[in-house]
Amino acid sequence: MLPAELIHFKEKGQAITILTAWDSISSSIVEAAGADVVLVGDSLSMVALGHATTLPVTLDQMLHHAQAVGRGFTRPPKEQPLLVCDLPFLSYQCGEDKAVEAAGKLLKNSSTAAVKLEGAEPEVINVIQRLIRMGIPVMGHLGLTPQSVHNLGYRRQAENIKDQKKVLEQAIKLEESGCFAIVLEHVPEELSIRVRNGLKIPIIGIGAGICDGQVRVTADLIGLTEKQPPFSPALIPGRELCIKALKDWIEKQHHEAKTPTKELPQQIRDY
Ligand code: KIV
Repeated sequence: MLPAELIHFKEKGQAITILTAWDSISSSIVEAAGADVVLVGDSLSMVALGHATTLPVTLDQMLHHAQAVGRGFTRPPKEQPLLVCDLPFLSYQCGEDKAVEAAGKLLKNSSTAAVKLEGAEPEVINVIQRLIRMGIPVMGHLGLTPQSVHNLGYRRQAENIKDQKKVLEQAIKLEESGCFAIVLEHVPEELSIRVRNGLKIPIIGIGAGICDGQVRVTADLIGLTEKQPPFSPALIPGRELCIKALKDWIEKQHHEAKTPTKELPQQIRDY
């Protein structure tokens, strides 16, 4: 599927499902579950690399994980979910040339078909327009933008009318610049409704109420992260289930090692 084809989901009123993956096991799982799009999100900075924020992950690390995610797909390339990769912090904020090089590196060396980047400041709009002119599809990301954590924190964004107007204007700018979809994170539902109704391209929510589609960090959904954000509760206690299964296995090994070894029959003992 081409990124631009996601618009047909919105036209038909069909929900778009996006799940993150960070390695070949997680990608084979989300593919088997039937996600339309797989996102190699920079949340892998926390999920896979143990950092406290998304800021430290590098472009080379994102590429390394995107390659692993691509190798995890089991279906032939034409039938695989669309693979979108985040442009990490500082790979697009320092100018258009650097951004084209960074996005190009991901598309050239992995199955990535599109990139996602955060914000809609004039500099970012210039970057988006240049990427799209160079043939690189772009997904936008507004509302809570984790790469700006030191400015915004992790709290819900656009709580007042003035900020909501700003987000709506930014979303229109992203659509006019050629983005094929926009992630809207942790904002009031009345804003998502306005953005969703005001734009032709799909709005993908996370902590934003009902939208044209939803995106989640898979490790949060399956309860592998130690603390999930309030808008993304775990569906299963994945961490506890894994720990229990592994504890049982370890106990079984201790128990078996203590049981006396069976005496082998003479003819096997003397081979
Ligand atoms: O990095 C990520 O996983 C994301 C999603 C939360 C949308 O950007």
